Amino acid sequence: MTHLVHAIGHMKINTNVVDAVVRESTEILGLKVTHKGDGQTWLSSNGRAVELVLVHADENSAHTIGLEALTVDAVRAAEANVASAGCTVVSREPSLSCMAAGFTFVTPEGLRFEIHTPIRDDLAARRHPTYGVSANRMDHINLLTPDPAATRRQLEIIGGLRLSERLVNDSLSWMYGGNRQHHILGLVKGKVGVHHISFEFLDASQFIRLGDTLDRFDKQMLWGPGRHRPGDNVYSYYIDPAGAMIECSSGMSLIADDANFTANVITNLERPGNVRAMNVWGTPAPLEWREFNFPFAQLG
Ligand SMILES: [Fe+2]
Repeated sequence: MTHLVHAIGHMKINTNVVDAVVRESTEILGLKVTHKGDGQTWLSSNGRAVELVLVHADENSAHTIGLEALTVDAVRAAEANVASAGCTVVSREPSLSCMAAGFTFVTPEGLRFEIHTPIRDDLAARRHPTYGVSANRMDHINLLTPDPAATRRQLEIIGGLRLSERLVNDSLSWMYGGNRQHHILGLVKGKVGVHHISFEFLDASQFIRLGDTLDRFDKQMLWGPGRHRPGDNVYSYYIDPAGAMIECSSGMSLIADDANFTANVITNLERPGNVRAMNVWGTPAPLEWREFNFPFAQLG
């Protein structure tokens, strides 16, 4: 199966607290505002025209998960697979002016995805002055679905994503795309929503700075720092003013040998025996993390 989807493209959220989200995104994460207008505010951590889209709305909810395909042909090939996956195309046009091509589809479970060509990227503008912790790029998103097996099948058929790892009861599973990161999408079993939005950090010392910066905002990490066993990435999590959970991630493993790779199945589910199956180091996930849900917007 060809990996039509390469990486995370962008994330759109609805929010009624735009100013507060912009303040924390710029002053904690270190994103920059790249565009305002037409009821949207765009933010990016690097030279991409946008990674996080704030849709000015009367609620706080997940709007669309953007998945990047490398070419127009890959976008059109993915689009041709939607009906056979039991999903529905709701737009055949790109949603943002900084993309050449894209289409949006919805799933029977209530998720909305856009598969689009790479967002316009200025490589000379990767860094910018900021007091924030200087995220490098949005690197993965964990979604919530009531039927992880169905969502995985849809993403396999439409985008060529592959399973990298899962808990045997499907409460958590992870999928990879063309960039071979252990996961660009995580799937959490639950009411439809987004569990967390992750930004990658190149410098792990920024995790200390993150804690100190959150303190200045009278906030704390919800979980972390620690190192996950699935993905092997260092993590810290906090909640943004819209109620979305943000992960700061570093050093995720890569699946280079795609042809010989077999997805790992974690069968040890009971605490405390499974703590080392889930974490290399750090404290076990708190209940607040395990039960977190940022709801998906009502579709249609
Ligand atoms: Fe994550």
